[in-house]
Amino acid sequence: MNLYTLISASVVVVLAIFFSLPLLNPTYWLSLNLKSWLWIPIPSSSLSSSPVIADLVVRNGVIYTSDESLPFADSMAIHNGRILRLGNFSFVQELAADGTEELDLGGKVVVPGFIDSHVHLIYAGLQMARVELHGINKKDEFVRKIKEAVRNAKEGSWILGGGWNNDLWGGELPLASWIDDITPYNPVWLNRMDGHMGLANSVALKLSGISNLTKDPEGGTIVRTVDGEPTGLLIDSAMKLLLPYIPEDTVNERREALVGATNHALMRGVTTVVDFGRYYPGVSAELPWEDFSDVYQWADASKKMMIRVCLFFPMETWLRLHPYADEPHNYGLQVTESEILYNITMASEKSGLQVAIHAIGDRANDLILDIYESVVSTNGMRDRRFRIEHAQHLAPGAAARFGRQGIVASVQPLHLLGDADTATKKLGTDRAQKESYLFRSLLASNAPLAFGSDWPCCCFRL
Ligand SMILES: *[C@@H]1O[C@H](CO)[C@@H](O)[C@H](O)[C@H]1NC(C)=O
Ligand SMILES: *[C@@H]1O[C@H](CO)[C@@H](O)[C@H](O)[C@H]1NC(C)=O
Ligand SMILES: *[C@@H]1O[C@H](CO)[C@@H](O)[C@H](O)[C@H]1NC(C)=O
Repeated sequence: MNLYTLISASVVVVLAIFFSLPLLNPTYWLSLNLKSWLWIPIPSSSLSSSPVIADLVVRNGVIYTSDESLPFADSMAIHNGRILRLGNFSFVQELAADGTEELDLGGKVVVPGFIDSHVHLIYAGLQMARVELHGINKKDEFVRKIKEAVRNAKEGSWILGGGWNNDLWGGELPLASWIDDITPYNPVWLNRMDGHMGLANSVALKLSGISNLTKDPEGGTIVRTVDGEPTGLLIDSAMKLLLPYIPEDTVNERREALVGATNHALMRGVTTVVDFGRYYPGVSAELPWEDFSDVYQWADASKKMMIRVCLFFPMETWLRLHPYADEPHNYGLQVTESEILYNITMASEKSGLQVAIHAIGDRANDLILDIYESVVSTNGMRDRRFRIEHAQHLAPGAAARFGRQGIVASVQPLHLLGDADTATKKLGTDRAQKESYLFRSLLASNAPLAFGSDWPCCCFRL
C-alpha cells in the first residue's frame, strides 16, 4: 500500500473543543490524580468549593484510586456526581446525613472512567445499525450475514456494513460473486476493517458506473480478474468512484448513532473519547464540520452528551479554526508529500493547535518523527503534544525517539496484527513478539502513551 496514500488519507488537527457532562466534574478526575499531561480542564472555582453533605455513599467496594498514597479504598462519598471523599466506611460516613443514599457494592471493583484515545464515534454508532462483519472467520458466515440483511431490507435500498478481515479466513479477498446471487436488487458496500478497501456487489458497481472500461484513479485500485472485469473490491481512492452513490446519512440517523455509541461506550466504562470523526480516505472533509454542528452541538445543547469528547478535524480545513488575515486563500493540501506535510505542520504551529498525523508502518512513523523533529529544531521546544496515530509498527530505535522527542504514541493494540503484513517488513508477524517488542520499547522510552480502540475499525469488547 502506498505510503503517501496512507498519510494523505489521514492528516488531522485538533480543535480544542471538549464536550462534557456536568456530572463528570473535573474535580472527580483531579481527586483521582490522573496523569497531568492529559487535557483535563480544571475550573478554579471547583477547587475551592467543597460541599459537605454527600447525596450518595458507596461502600464495600474495591475502589481503585490511581493515587499512590491510597491506591485502594472501600468507600466513597459523592455529591452531585463529584467524589467528596475516599477511604474507609466510617471516615466517608462522616459526610452522610438524613437524605444520603447508601449503595453496597458487595465487593465489586470500581475504577476511574476509561479514556479511549482513538475512536470514530458517529461512524461507530452508524456501524452498530449495519451489517457487522468483525470477527467473521468463514466465507459462509460472511455470506450468511449479508443474506440476513437482505431479508430485512427494502428492494433497491443500500446494504451497508463492514469490519471484515480476510486474514481471519485464510487471506482470500472477497468477491462480488460471493454475494451477487443473493443480492440481485440491492446495492451492497462492505468496508474492510481498516477502511482502506471495500467490497461492492455487481448492482453497486453498475449503479456507480464502474466497469471493465473504468481506469484506476490515482492512489487507488479497482481489483480485476485476469479478464479485466472488476471483482468488486475497491482500494483506497478507487472507493471515491462509488461512495458518492451511497445516500447520505440523515441528521436523525447521525444523532441516533451518537447516542447509541455513547451508551455502548458508557456500558463498558468508557467516559472519555478522542474522536477522529467520520473522516476516511475518499470522503469529504466537510463531514466532520457537518457532524460538529448537526450532531455534537445538538447533543451538547440538548444535554445528551453523556461522555467527554475531544474532537479532531481534517488538517486541510484547519484555517477555519484559525484563519489567517494575510492568507485567505490558503486551504492547502491536495497531495501530501512530506515537504507539504512539514510546511503545514509548521503553519499550524502558529495557531497553537495540537497536530496528530496518522502513520501506519515503520517507514511512515520514521518520516513523521523526522518532520516533528525539524519543526522543533526550527521553532524550539514547547508543549505541543504532537501525536502519531497508529504507532503500532515501529522500526528498531523509533520507540526511543518518541520518548526523546516527547511525541504522544497513539497505539491501537488491536491493529497490531491487522496492519502487520501491509505496514511493515522489518518485524515478523508473531503476535507475542510484536506486542512485547512494542510495549517494552515504548514503556522504556518514557514516551507519553495514548491507547485507543479505533472503534468501529476495531470493536472494544472489554
Ligand atoms: C478510617 O480512616 C480514617 C482516615 O483515614 C483513619 O483515621 C481511621 O483510623 C480509619 N479507621 C479504621 C478502622 O481503619
Ligand atoms: C468489457 O465488457 C464488455 C461487456 O461485458 C465487453 O463487450 C468488452 O469486450 C469488454 N472490454 C474489455 C476491454 O475487456
Ligand atoms: C514549503 O515552504 C517553503 C518555504 O515557505 C516553500 O519555499 C516551499 O515551496 C514549500 N513547499 C511546498 C511543497 O509547498
